[in-house]
Amino acid sequence: MDRYAVIGNPIAHSKSPRIHAAFAAQTGQQLVYEALLAPLDGFAAAVAEFRHAGGRGLNVTVPFKLEAHSLADRLSPRAEAAGAVNTLAFDGDGIFGDNTDGAGLVRDIRHNLNYPIEGRRVLLLGAGGAARGVVLPLLGEAPVALTIANRTVTRAEELVERFGPQAGAATLDACGFAALVGRDFDLVINATAASLSDQAPDLPPGLYAPDALAYDMMYGRGDTPFMRAARRDGAARTADGLGMLVEQAAESFRLWRGVRPDTAPVLEALRAEIM
Ligand code: ATR
Repeated sequence: MDRYAVIGNPIAHSKSPRIHAAFAAQTGQQLVYEALLAPLDGFAAAVAEFRHAGGRGLNVTVPFKLEAHSLADRLSPRAEAAGAVNTLAFDGDGIFGDNTDGAGLVRDIRHNLNYPIEGRRVLLLGAGGAARGVVLPLLGEAPVALTIANRTVTRAEELVERFGPQAGAATLDACGFAALVGRDFDLVINATAASLSDQAPDLPPGLYAPDALAYDMMYGRGDTPFMRAARRDGAARTADGLGMLVEQAAESFRLWRGVRPDTAPVLEALRAEIM
């Protein structure tokens, strides 16, 4: 049977094996999908071992997405832009690296949350790997403006410089959190790592336009600190990143197997479980 896995460190709590098993059952694909713990200094060796044992593809998670980018022989344009890889596919031509995180985010917002990004003013919070991975897919949705705000403003400025040529008709700008005073947005996406330390980014009030959506790329049991802060600040809608997790998985599954699973029942089951 074709073998796939998610590789990371730590990996025990990954939901990917459950998600992909559900996709396989639903689409009638014969495959096994495991969780692989790689030593922090042994990512490339673990990938090689899995591949030589007949593995067909890997999802890559923390902290190996940058290493996976260097390891790939060929990259999709979106993985190249992201500078990070979350999906590897092994074939006769070597190792192909893709990044489905941004596509997963955009699909969750547009399709599951029914919130079109076209023509909206979007604020992306954070300028690390997670933010960089979603800039190009967000620009692809033709927002009227994309502002990247980060605690360390120089990192946001670097992203704007990097993606400026691909902004199309969208206005792309960078700032620190304090400079957001007096501005408002239709869609605010939290790509900072603040939730990991149970914090929300320190934002000025009044960021949310009427009907705005506040989206946290993180998820947990119940609302994240960012979602709670957004609601206090008047966001009409809030969402966590569980839908993004399922959608990025579906996009990887499609790359490997050529069929796109129906994500709705899988997301619903996962949601019921973490509540
Ligand atoms: P990741 O790959 O998860 O994006 P990263 O590259 O280390 O991780 O980036 C972490 C991001 O979260 C950065 O944008 C960081 O802001 P700085 O560049 O100023 O460090 C942001 N971040 C982390 N903790 C934060 C907090 N408590 N408040 C606001 N931003 C935070």
